[in-house]
Amino acid sequence: MTINLFPQGLRNFLLPFLAFLIATNIAILDAGAQRAQPEAATGVKAKEIARAQTYMIAAANPLASEAGREILARGGSAIDATIAAQMVLNLVEPQSSGIGGGAFILHWDEKNKQLQTIDAREAAPMAARPDRFYGPDGKRMKFQQAVFSGLSVGVPGLLRGLELAHRKHGKLPWKDLFTPAIKLAENGFAVSPRLNDLLTKRGADKFGPQARAYFFDSSNVPWPVGHQLKNPAFAEVLKQIAAKGADEFYLGKLASDIVERVKSIETIPGDLSLTDLAIYRAKERAPICSDYREVKVCGMGPPSSGALTVNYVLKLVEPLGLGSQPLNANALHVLAEAQKLAYADRGRYMADSDFVNVPTGLLDSTYLDSRRQLIDPKSAMTKANPGEPHAVKKTEFGRDATIESSGTSHISVVDADGNAVSMTTTIESAFGSRHMVRGFLLNNELTDFSFRYRDDQGRIIANGVQPGKRPRSSMAPTIVLDSDNNVRMVLGSPGGSRIINYVTKVIVAHFDWKMDIQSAVNLINFGSRNGPLEIENSSEHDDLTQALAGLGQKIARKDMTSGLHVISRENGEWLGAADPRREGVALGK
Ligand code: GLY
Repeated sequence: MTINLFPQGLRNFLLPFLAFLIATNIAILDAGAQRAQPEAATGVKAKEIARAQTYMIAAANPLASEAGREILARGGSAIDATIAAQMVLNLVEPQSSGIGGGAFILHWDEKNKQLQTIDAREAAPMAARPDRFYGPDGKRMKFQQAVFSGLSVGVPGLLRGLELAHRKHGKLPWKDLFTPAIKLAENGFAVSPRLNDLLTKRGADKFGPQARAYFFDSSNVPWPVGHQLKNPAFAEVLKQIAAKGADEFYLGKLASDIVERVKSIETIPGDLSLTDLAIYRAKERAPICSDYREVKVCGMGPPSSGALTVNYVLKLVEPLGLGSQPLNANALHVLAEAQKLAYADRGRYMADSDFVNVPTGLLDSTYLDSRRQLIDPKSAMTKANPGEPHAVKKTEFGRDATIESSGTSHISVVDADGNAVSMTTTIESAFGSRHMVRGFLLNNELTDFSFRYRDDQGRIIANGVQPGKRPRSSMAPTIVLDSDNNVRMVLGSPGGSRIINYVTKVIVAHFDWKMDIQSAVNLINFGSRNGPLEIENSSEHDDLTQALAGLGQKIARKDMTSGLHVISRENGEWLGAADPRREGVALGK
């Protein structure tokens, strides 16, 4: 695509100058962002759109999608397939999610036309205090030091969340859903290129002893691609959970093993207790839904900032229009400005609503009208300030200081009865805390809290640590409904705080730019998190970045490793798309 913004004479002068500005911006911005990179890129593989008449699953590894497909073929429900796929992901994509972590689950009940949203987010132990991530010297810990310590390990929520959803929406017995993962754990699975690459990049010395012994050979070399890796310890854990339910994890022998492991972490021990595990509950929360163009976009409320921020951006840009040409510079500019405004409010106001009065008026149309006035189609903000939604003074909340990275995965499923699940699932950083117990990794989700709990003015930061609180998330599992209340799209992605922009990209690309879902997923990632406008590294699109720089956007070209899994309903069939940046696949019948 070529964009001629300037007459030729002016171009000869301006373009080299802009190129210099872009290069300068990239260098500066990259230096500041080293601490919190999401899971790294490990190559791109072209994916074909999948088609099905009856059911479909899209997940981050072919073995996981296959396990889900098998359950759907046996008449299992969307949540049954999700559970089977998740257990396999825990084994074959251990860097991203598992029973040692948490999730947000959206369930669409087609018969009753009801959306249920379940918060299975990790919680801080009751012993946690606001200064959790400060050392004895009174200084804040380095981010990676905190990640690799026991202090980052929150009470895992995944199994309680899946159990809650299965009790209401499961069709097959709970125990049957663990069989595919148990078989693979016992017989071995082929180490994938992505798993091998991430282990190689991380290095053996970055893992606790149990994880090192599992992922690396005796010379500390990661198992090669294709190596048949067995995990008998995890197979045993899955058998226990299959037979005894989630209680085995939260109240049984496994609970004591988890507590003992966290207490004995070699770097800095953690403080997770048996009581923390025993009292953990998955919570049903009210969904967040907004109309956008001809559809309704629904997602997870706090402690996730996902749906609030996605919908905030969409509502800001809706009346402005994004044109029909994919990736046009004006649209990316307007989106970036909207994202700056939305992320500014996200940072100031969004956190666990059981502990913080998250303003209720963030999506009110009058408030959003006032925020939209701040978008100048011809000029970019460097950084947006938070606004003041109805009855809230921004000075009541401290300035956010959360650093975010991610080891996360997303599963989208539709079953033969038309029910749907959109679940984003995480252990936070790649390989979580990098400490393992009985064959599975423990999360480091508590580093999703702001380490600072008061800002420079002494104001309390919404996302600071408190006992029992759940850290703010960016996960944005989404279900889009059409005007007749039918499922139109099921989607979500990993990617830390960029998740919000990845999900927004697909919605805009499909509903505004009329791209098919695979092309929408493939499209280069872009978006601002109230800083530079990040644009995915690629050998193309220099014209676009120059045009955006011309509008005053600071551009940062980055690896932006989304893992979008999308299912859409079009012309009476299900279409599925998996992200070429990861190893996933959509399967159905
Ligand atoms: N750990 C990723 C997120 O919750 O946003």
